[in-house]
Amino acid sequence: MPEYSISSSLDKIPKSGIRKLFDLAQSMEGIISLGIGEPDFDTPQNIVEASVKALKEGKTYYSPNSGILELRKAISEKMRKQNNINVSENEIMVTVGGGEALSLAIQSSIKTRDDVIVPSPAFVAYVPTVMLSGGNPIEVECKEEDNFILSPDILEEKITENTELLILNSPSNPTGSVIKKSSLEKICDIVKEYNLKVISDEVYESLIYDGEKHVSIGSLNGMEENVITINSFSKTYSMTGWRVGYLSSKDELLFERMLKLHMYGPVCNNTFAQFGALEALKGPQDFVEHMRHEFEDRRNLLLKRIKEMDGVSAIKPEGAFYLFMNISRTGMASEEFCEKLLNQEKVVTVPGLAFGPYYDEYVRLAYPLKKDKINEACDRMQKFLSKN
Ligand SMILES: Cc1ncc(COP(=O)(O)O)c(C=O)c1O
Repeated sequence: MPEYSISSSLDKIPKSGIRKLFDLAQSMEGIISLGIGEPDFDTPQNIVEASVKALKEGKTYYSPNSGILELRKAISEKMRKQNNINVSENEIMVTVGGGEALSLAIQSSIKTRDDVIVPSPAFVAYVPTVMLSGGNPIEVECKEEDNFILSPDILEEKITENTELLILNSPSNPTGSVIKKSSLEKICDIVKEYNLKVISDEVYESLIYDGEKHVSIGSLNGMEENVITINSFSKTYSMTGWRVGYLSSKDELLFERMLKLHMYGPVCNNTFAQFGALEALKGPQDFVEHMRHEFEDRRNLLLKRIKEMDGVSAIKPEGAFYLFMNISRTGMASEEFCEKLLNQEKVVTVPGLAFGPYYDEYVRLAYPLKKDKINEACDRMQKFLSKN
């Protein structure tokens, strides 16, 4: 058996499929990007002001490793009220974005060569982080006809004696799919039967459309100990550059491990940013609904425009700000499609292969941009499709 090391694992991990096209686009003018995964809204002023006030008041020192107490208490209250998860402030850690929370959770949950089930297509960080942690990612194909959602039967088929962890993400990046409560309940039964751990990445929880509501798997029957819930201020409050996220776990050993990794890495989150995050939770919430409503309108526009195009199709995404477009009828592979679209029409999209090995007939479109830009991008795509 070969020795495992982080450095040798790093050499096996390809660079993110997202970066390649973005780098190419950097050198071009007149680009419209459907590639970027962040809201195009400024962070609300009350949040900015709370952070500036903290700076002016000298909140410029290290905070406790797991985050300032006021923020952890506010997160605990939010999780109880919004997510139906009972976690105390001592079971919550403030992290450097949801990204750090994810790597802490994955690294602390598995041993070398444990199997980790990653429903595919998946957020680009999951598989590399599992590999870096010495784990064995099992990418499970989720089909378009199942709304790209993991079927409980297929999950059960993939479980072996080496399976330790399942990573869930709802609403999903890259598909916008939302896992319904009834499916989550079936998944819970399997998780309990095989005593798996679950990482539930809920960073898009506030962006769900058509009157549907987010359900946290950590709130369901007997899941308390099994689930690490990951969340972030990045998308909900348009705070991507602030780098404030959080995780919660009731598993004491796991929490201790994550805390050690965090204290020997970033030490703590930026203290003044945490005061901004505190205001995000405690202050007025109308921004969240305003942004959700705006994204729902944009989703409707993009979907309508795609339905009018020849050669491509899409199912309706129910959340987040992504749409996974089927390009199979164009006869092009996903990288070829994205490169040609960029070179000919200056529209940035991301090849499906960046999100899993089964998705060469898809491209991801991100729609956090104004409606006139969405229309312009669709005009260009229509022109591209008529020529290729
Ligand atoms: C599914 C998913 N999880 C986690 C993250 C990490 O977000 P952040 O580190 O900004 O909180 C992202 C960012 O795009 C994401 O799409």
